[in-house]
Amino acid sequence: MARLLLTGGAGFIGSHTAVVLQQAGHQLVVLDSFSNSSPEALRRVEALTGQSIDVVTGDLRDPNAVERALAHGVDAVVHFAGLKAVGESVEKPLLYWDVNLTGSRVLLEAMAAAGCRTLVFSSSATVYGIPDHVPIPEAAPVQPNNPYGRTKAAVEQMLADVAASEPGWRVASLRYFNPVGAHPSGQIGEDPLGIPNNLFPFVSQVAVGQRPHLKVFGSDWPTPDGTGVRDYIHVMDLAEGHRAALEVLLDSADQQLTLNLGSGQGHSVLKVVQAFEKASGRPVPYELVARRPGDAASTVADPALAKELLGWSTRRGLEECCRDGWAWQQANPSGYR
Ligand code: NAD
Ligand code: UFG
Repeated sequence: MARLLLTGGAGFIGSHTAVVLQQAGHQLVVLDSFSNSSPEALRRVEALTGQSIDVVTGDLRDPNAVERALAHGVDAVVHFAGLKAVGESVEKPLLYWDVNLTGSRVLLEAMAAAGCRTLVFSSSATVYGIPDHVPIPEAAPVQPNNPYGRTKAAVEQMLADVAASEPGWRVASLRYFNPVGAHPSGQIGEDPLGIPNNLFPFVSQVAVGQRPHLKVFGSDWPTPDGTGVRDYIHVMDLAEGHRAALEVLLDSADQQLTLNLGSGQGHSVLKVVQAFEKASGRPVPYELVARRPGDAASTVADPALAKELLGWSTRRGLEECCRDGWAWQQANPSGYR
């Protein structure tokens, strides 16, 4: 059993990981500003696990807030907090550099001062930009093509520099592919504010009747059906990947890991639409429109290294992603509101 700090633990991935970590016997402290989440998510995690969470409401960039969170006697940190919208990062690059980079620097300084040197960081497949080949191994070039991705690549680099500067650091940067789905209870899930940017929440809002149709961005990609291909990973598989990474770190001496968390399977936009229609029994009307600037034709993980080093691989497929995402959407058509 360890005492773990989850920054951004009330968010989509953080809340699901909280369930898995509590069920594995760990005690949790969450630091969150609730800028993109609701305290209700944490109440539901507590209801699912029957265990309480210590919550510190505050901003990651505020050293006092981070110090307060670490004062709970934390063995390791899972660092989810940050901003994640590609389009917004193009419009507000300084905000992204501030929250994602300054926030991570403040966290690392406070961790060093508190003598806590074990960290799992939420990186992203976005660091690969437009990949030269799929599936993408971790050794592929890091060439992000938007400010969001550049902040993730910069934090990875900062972590590597810190880990190399003194002994005792144990760090894992986890490059997530496309996290989707929800806890199978339908109690917690993804709750985007406003119009979703991402395919899955958009499709589920179309299926539930909140939006008239999906726009499919590009039907002339060099893929089997012409629509974009992605590696969708069920958020519960992703949560289990964090548990595996933490357990490996907590069992090792100095350690620096950079790992893809993906399934290794690619699905096109039209395949997702069909799978969601089947899971929901509802039609998902769509319109084929122009490509979205900055998109890649296909991004699919090579997940072999995570399997080798963590003994982890995904267990749930596209069908479960749609089934669980739909259960959440149906039970909570307005999210946590
Ligand atoms: P999310 O927005 O649901 O969760 C992020 C959490 O961080 C929220 O609870 C938010 O309130 C909190 N937060 C934001 N800024 C903060 C600040 N300055 N101080 C304190 N708390 C703050 O996002 P998510 O989908 O759960 O993503 C979690 C992490 O995973 C992010 O770092 C994101 O970049 C990364 N990631 C997400 C995806 C994805 O598609 N969801 C893919 C790859 C990587
Ligand atoms: N798409 C549509 N219509 C939509 C939304 C998306 O056709 O309304 C298509 C996209 O063009 C793409 C696929 O659906 O082909 C997936 O798009 P998403 O926006 O859901 O996901 P991305 O792969 O573009 O990006 C996501 C996150 C990034 C993250 C990346 C890799 O938004 O932050 O996955 O993890 F970095």
